[in-house]
Amino acid sequence: MLDYLLWFEELTSTQDFLKERELPVGTVVVSNRQTKGRGRHGRFWHSQEGGLYFSFLLDTDYRDSMSLPLVLGYALSEYMRAQGLVSAIKWTNDVFVKGKKIVGILVERIKKGFVCGVGVNVNQEGFPPDVQAISMFMADGVKRDRVEVLLSLLQLFEDTLKTFRSEGFVAFRELIKSRLLFLDQEVIVYAEKPVVGVLKDLAQDGSLILLTAEGELRVFSGDLTLRGLGI
Ligand code: BTN
Repeated sequence: MLDYLLWFEELTSTQDFLKERELPVGTVVVSNRQTKGRGRHGRFWHSQEGGLYFSFLLDTDYRDSMSLPLVLGYALSEYMRAQGLVSAIKWTNDVFVKGKKIVGILVERIKKGFVCGVGVNVNQEGFPPDVQAISMFMADGVKRDRVEVLLSLLQLFEDTLKTFRSEGFVAFRELIKSRLLFLDQEVIVYAEKPVVGVLKDLAQDGSLILLTAEGELRVFSGDLTLRGLGI
């Protein structure tokens, strides 16, 4: 499924590289550094040497595609756990270790499918003070070969996406819920307007169920933070 690999020393963004070219579904683009790495909502993604930055192109053949970022996040959290790092999933697109972000995921829809971008903090020794991030090295003191990390992740994505394609989000819902950050805690979701409520559940389609002052509310997208913490 992920059949072609291009690995660069430096790009503006692996995401933009894939979006600006007519490359086949299954292409994976990696860069050692990105000068304009992008996160969600146009945010900057620090992409210095030591991290693993890649994007890949998937076709549209997923019935629950809204939950694709969550399912990719689940695969990444599995990888972290296999490496001995207890990880949590922050709806919708992040993986956290020790309360800090270790992986960011950006899924963008294009005509022929989805461009999925993944930034994994692997060997970085630190981040600017305003960035609440951690690398695998900072978490456990182990430097890793990024080629090995990438190949393990691609295999994990292949297996996970095969199940997602055939069984849909239902196959992952309980697993993701069991490692969901902020469950039963008071959160704010910055959607069209900020919504405050207790995070009660993950719905069948991957949306969040919040208990608000006005009753139960479904949230389909937005930025989630713990109320009063702002991470
Ligand atoms: C986020 O946390 O907001 C998502 C971050 C996604 C970063 C990855 S790094 C590889 C790919 N190229 C980009 O410019 N962004 C994604």
